[in-house]
Amino acid sequence: MSGTTLITGASSGIGAALARQFAARGFDLVLTARRESRLERLAEELASQYGRQVDIVGADLAASSGVATVLRAVETIGRPIEVLVNNAGAAATGAFSETDTETASDIVNVNVRALTELTSGLLPGMIERASGRILNVASVVSFAAVPGMAIYSASKAYVLALSEALSEELKGTGVTVTALCPGLTQTEMVGSLDANGMPPFAMASAESVARAGYDACMQGRAIEVPGVMNQAFVSWLEANPRWFLRNLSGAAARFTAPFRRIVGG
Ligand SMILES: NC(=O)c1ccc[n+]([C@@H]2O[C@H](COP(=O)([O-])OP(=O)(O)OC[C@H]3O[C@@H](n4cnc5c(N)ncnc54)[C@H](OP(=O)(O)O)[C@@H]3O)[C@@H](O)[C@H]2O)c1
Repeated sequence: MSGTTLITGASSGIGAALARQFAARGFDLVLTARRESRLERLAEELASQYGRQVDIVGADLAASSGVATVLRAVETIGRPIEVLVNNAGAAATGAFSETDTETASDIVNVNVRALTELTSGLLPGMIERASGRILNVASVVSFAAVPGMAIYSASKAYVLALSEALSEELKGTGVTVTALCPGLTQTEMVGSLDANGMPPFAMASAESVARAGYDACMQGRAIEVPGVMNQAFVSWLEANPRWFLRNLSGAAARFTAPFRRIVGG
C-alpha cells in the first residue's frame, strides 16, 4: 500500500514518530498540529531523508473551525487520503470538579469531536475507492475509568468503542479501522502531566509505539496494545469486574492525591 497519510498531532511524540514510520515505508504525508514551526522542521527532515511529498497544515482541533481547516487543506492539496491517523490528543489530571470548563471542552473537542469529524469527512472517499486505513490512537485507559483522569479516560473509551464498531461496520469495504492503545510512553504529554515519578525505563518510546501502530494499521487489526506489560495489564483489566476495578482505582486515587499535591506543589 502507498499513497498519502494524514496524521494529526504530528508536531511531537507518537505523531511525529508515526510520520517517520509512514515516510520510511513510502507514504507521502499531510501533517497537522498547532505548532507549525515543528511541522516545518519535520517535513524538511522527511522530504530530504525519504524523498516524500510532505504538506503541513496548521490547525487547532479544539476550535470549532479546526477540522474544516484541515479538510479544506486536504482538498487543496488534491491527493486522496489513503490513511487517516487520528493521533492528536489532549489530557489533564486532577479532580473533574477542579477542572475548568474550557480545559474539559478542549479535551473532548480534540480527542472525540475532531477524531469523529475527520473520520466522517474522509471515510466516504475511502469507501468509494474501496481502499483505506484509519488508525485511531486510544490508550490502555480506554479499558477502564480512571478517577483523576475522568475526561481523558472517558474520551479514550469512546475512541476504542468507535474504532471497534467501525472495524466491524466496514468489513468487506476495503477500509479498516485500528485502535492503537499505548500505555505510558515517553512524550511531552506525560512530561506535562507528571507521571508520578515513573522512571523513564518503565515507559515505552514513541518510536516503538509508532512501529506497532503502523504494523497493526497495515494488517487491519482492530486493536493493538503495544508492549507485553501493557498487554498483561489490559488482560488483567478485562479479567476483573468493573465494580472491583472502579473501587480499586478510586481507592488508589484517594490514597495518592495528597502526594500528588505535594509533588505538584
Ligand atoms: N504518552 C502517553 O503515555 C500516551 C499513552 C496513551 C495514549 N497516548 C495518546 O497518544 C497521542 C499522542 O500523544 P503523545 O503522547 O505523543 O503526546 P504529545 O507529544 O504531547 O503529542 C500530542 C500531539 O497532539 C497535538 N495536539 C494537542 N492539542 C491539539 C489541538 N488543540 N489541536 C491540534 N493538535 C493538538 C499536539 O500538537 P500541537 O501542540 O502542536 O498542537 C501534539 O502534536 C494522544 O492521543 C495521546 O492521548 C499517549
